[in-house]
Amino acid sequence: METIREPAELRLILDRVRATGIVGFVPTMGALHAGHETLCRKSVAENDVSAASIFVNPLQFGLGEDYQRYPRDLAADQRLLQESGVDFLFAPDAAAVYPPGFQTRVIVGELSRPLEGAARPGHFEGVATIVLKLFEMVGPCRAYFGEKDFQQLQVIRRMVLDLNVPVEVRGVPTVREADGLAMSSRNRYLTTEERTAAPAIYQALLAARSLAERGVLDPDALLQEAHRRLEASPLIKPEYVALVDPDTLRPVVQPGRSAIMAIAARVGAARLIDNIMIRPPDSRPSAD
Ligand code: PAJ
Repeated sequence: METIREPAELRLILDRVRATGIVGFVPTMGALHAGHETLCRKSVAENDVSAASIFVNPLQFGLGEDYQRYPRDLAADQRLLQESGVDFLFAPDAAAVYPPGFQTRVIVGELSRPLEGAARPGHFEGVATIVLKLFEMVGPCRAYFGEKDFQQLQVIRRMVLDLNVPVEVRGVPTVREADGLAMSSRNRYLTTEERTAAPAIYQALLAARSLAERGVLDPDALLQEAHRRLEASPLIKPEYVALVDPDTLRPVVQPGRSAIMAIAARVGAARLIDNIMIRPPDSRPSAD
């Protein structure tokens, strides 16, 4: 695997690849784990050449968030990418990404506003801007994003459609620890005690889903069930629990519609998010 720091060099190499093949691309902020690895392996399996990027993007962190202390471990990340079969790691310097005088932003409207957008003002502006910039540096490709960050995935899909970006976006299901906790670079912030408590977030999502599967379709009842599960765990401080339409991310108020239940919670120094698809019993895909 080759590590590249210069955007122009990356573009030149990948343009050559595109003459005969398809490029897969996995954007990340590093501190890689098995979730990232799954995205990379999918890209490697589905494309001729794969590139991953590591860039901790200051633009998507708010004041008082964890930009400074976000975990950085390039050597370990390089090993994981190499083992996943990725051909190129793109790890640009901040100066190559944000030139002096930088003042352009990408704003995705309605999809950016609720949930993470409301909790983290400016976050999706930062995400959409860096992802469009990375797409420009990589060029036409298939790009892989995790469903763990469901709103991010929808924001990127919308941006790609709205701005005619020559990128095919592919979503990848959430990769979890054995006890259900969604893998996240931020899990490293958890103490042993907090780590033991954290799976309650996924348990709350599962509890709501299982209620829906048993025919309880009132959104308020499902939300209450999730809240009840979270409250049983004193180390978990929920920021929001929401039931939203998967396409519009507007709150689901009608019983019986397919919906995403999304949770954000503080667990000690970590802010964790997770989500699950909830379908009414009659719309579940059949077992075969
Ligand atoms: P990061 O948090 O490093 O995540 C990179 C990609 O890995 C994202 O698409 C994310 O959804 C996916 N991912 C993280 N944990 C996952 C899990 N447990 N299962 C499946 N996929 C998972 O998301 C970002 O970086 C940034 O916002 C970025 C898109 C790189 C822009 O800066």
